[in-house]
Amino acid sequence: MSKKILITGGAGFIGSHVVRLFVKSHPEYSIVNLDKLTYAGNLENLRDVETNQNYRFVKGDIVDYEFIKEFFSKEQFDGVIHLAAESHVDRSLENPAEFAVTNIVGTLNLLQAARLSWKDNFSKKLFYHISTDEVYGSLDHGGFFTEETPVDPRSPYSASKTGSDHFVKAFHSSYGLPVIISRCSNNYGPNHFPEKLIPLMIYNIINNKPLPVYGKGENVRDWLYVEDHASAIHVIFEKGKAGEVYNIGGNNEWKNIDLVMMLCQIMDKKLNREKGASEKLITYVKDRAGHDLRYAIDSTKLQHELGWKPSIDFPAGLEKTVDWFLNNPEWLDHVTSGAYREYYKSMYDNR
Ligand code: NAD
Ligand code: TYD
Repeated sequence: MSKKILITGGAGFIGSHVVRLFVKSHPEYSIVNLDKLTYAGNLENLRDVETNQNYRFVKGDIVDYEFIKEFFSKEQFDGVIHLAAESHVDRSLENPAEFAVTNIVGTLNLLQAARLSWKDNFSKKLFYHISTDEVYGSLDHGGFFTEETPVDPRSPYSASKTGSDHFVKAFHSSYGLPVIISRCSNNYGPNHFPEKLIPLMIYNIINNKPLPVYGKGENVRDWLYVEDHASAIHVIFEKGKAGEVYNIGGNNEWKNIDLVMMLCQIMDKKLNREKGASEKLITYVKDRAGHDLRYAIDSTKLQHELGWKPSIDFPAGLEKTVDWFLNNPEWLDHVTSGAYREYYKSMYDNR
């Protein structure tokens, strides 16, 4: 095996696509997936690669420093791709401390364990941290986030991701740890947990439940198909320059309400419903606290310097996503049983 790579959070939405891409395209690498399997982690996401020779799953918590230190010392990784995190803004509003602990302390633990296991000899090593465009804050109607945009987090989630980014940079400046940070816009696609906008709307349309649009539905997000994010992570891991930040985005801005309408139209066709049937389910509900108006990423640096570009346009990606959810009812059943129902009740009943 030419390289041993740790992927954290590999049982989650984006992580599972990153694991699959690396396992399938690098038989010469050994891929270790470390995940705590929180509500968002699901090994069903990785059924198709779980028996591959170059893949191994380890259940563990990045917040448990003694475990992490021991794990790194035993495994001697060459590289780390760090995705494990609490990732949902609405949950961060309910429980900010959990986000600080997982996202900041968890990242710090990994940085320190990597540094110690590499004994300050960093030749051919890389710590790659997956961050988000949300660290840049909120845009008005014009402009884009570039890598030079000052961070200005506004939710507990984005504040915790910003905190982790700062520690990653500090390990680079203070100890020379080779690090890369990438900041991506909103992802969508198969295996997306139905607490986020697109899978939640798909799930509710299937079940004829109200479609809760926050505020007036005027907020704008820049959507990227998850496999395109995974391919960007792959390119950055292989060719990116240590110490750099790369923005990742699809140049694909949508107002929430327009996106929900488009989903309704796609699903009416797929479900053989009368035209306009799903749109009737749209319900405007109380806005999210501190709701960021607009995110929009400028990914010129990544496209020009490393030659990445997105491969799937939005209508095609959305249709693939809808098809995946319609073809995987067991997956949806499993993730929406029990705890999901309680979550849904507490988040949406009083909106
Ligand atoms: P997710 O919530 O689907 O998955 C997170 C994974 O991390 C889960 O498998 C979970 O079990 C694991 N995890 C959580 N706490 C852990 C802990 N203490 N120890 C070990 N594992 C733990 O998240 P996602 O949407 O796949 O996002 C992955 C990463 O990408 C996150 O760092 C997120 O901030 C970032 N990101 C997400 C988006 C997006 O649109 N979803 C966009 C840009 C960046
Ligand atoms: P989300 O998928 O939670 O991603 P993020 O907040 O990280 O961008 O939300 C995307 C957008 O959709 C955001 O503007 C909030 C909005 N939204 C709704 O209108 N209704 C919902 O039920 C959810 C979950 C989100």
